[in-house]
Amino acid sequence: MKTLVIGATGQLGQDLLKALGDGAIGLGHGDIDVTDGVGVSRIIREKQPDWVINTAAFHRVDDCELNPTLSFAVNATGAANVARAAQEVGAGVVFYSTDYVYDGAGHARNTPHTERDAPAPLNVYGISKQAGEQMVALANARHIVIRSSGLYGTATSRKGWTFPELMINKARTEGKLKVVTDQALSPTYTHDLAATTLALMQRDATGLFNLTSGGECSWHEFASATLDLAGIDIDIEPSMTVQNPGKAIRPTYSAMDSVRLAEFGVEPMRPWREALSHYLNAKGIIGS
Ligand SMILES: NC(=O)c1ccc[n+]([C@@H]2O[C@H](COP(=O)([O-])OP(=O)(O)OC[C@H]3O[C@@H](n4cnc5c(N)ncnc54)[C@H](OP(=O)(O)O)[C@@H]3O)[C@@H](O)[C@H]2O)c1
Repeated sequence: MKTLVIGATGQLGQDLLKALGDGAIGLGHGDIDVTDGVGVSRIIREKQPDWVINTAAFHRVDDCELNPTLSFAVNATGAANVARAAQEVGAGVVFYSTDYVYDGAGHARNTPHTERDAPAPLNVYGISKQAGEQMVALANARHIVIRSSGLYGTATSRKGWTFPELMINKARTEGKLKVVTDQALSPTYTHDLAATTLALMQRDATGLFNLTSGGECSWHEFASATLDLAGIDIDIEPSMTVQNPGKAIRPTYSAMDSVRLAEFGVEPMRPWREALSHYLNAKGIIGS
């Protein structure tokens, strides 16, 4: 299975390349720009893949509010460019979307969003990703669209840190932390997301999938679990979003769960705490 991975230097891209092994071709931002439709078609025609996995995104959520043009160019038009070019050579396409397509309204804790829930994004990033989802589905019948959330992985992305790394570094250098309790999500380990993506491709699955590590937590609980596992004993001060709102409105509840994985006989991903422990181990932050 010859597979192109776009966004190969990113945290998910790196884990996809490892999961795919031989037959995978990684393309970084310097090799391909998804906003350049002509260039995307040329490269995909040259490579003749069976699948194209597109992890490229403009996903700095607050910056998307300031630059909707770039947000739509990468997350919507760029997604369509890749899906269309893949379709032209008979390849399937995988596109990653976000929990921020949901508004969380009416969802009490422990009732995660499934693929059956209608999107209602609250910010430009979510709107551009929802547009991307629809354009991918329109351009290529052999599509897998994956909504995920709170990604972290062992590869260092351009951001330079993951949320758990940031918490550990701040706790060690500043000795105190303040994290919001009023936003709940399903944090997701890219190592596991890559393996589950591959399982869906191998089964020729199509359509929309909500794929996250199992369960849900607030950012505060995520930070607390990280410090507990890392053996750092400090109290994390609880805070509310209103005390430090970003430019973008964020859903207060965006945990997700899949009702569609079972259709293809694919196991759900392990619970988020187990995944976090595996990650901290793989980073050498805790011993096995
Ligand atoms: N991170 C999260 O918490 C999260 C949550 C939900 C969904 N997602 C989605 O999951 C996917 C993977 O996220 P990630 O965390 O792995 O992102 P990441 O680490 O930032 O990787 C994204 C990759 O895309 C590349 N890229 C950016 N713009 C591009 C363009 N115009 N053309 C080609 N390549 C471009 C980046 O290269 P440069 O860095 O060199 O620009 C980078 O290699 C994205 O679609 C994202 O929207 C992420």
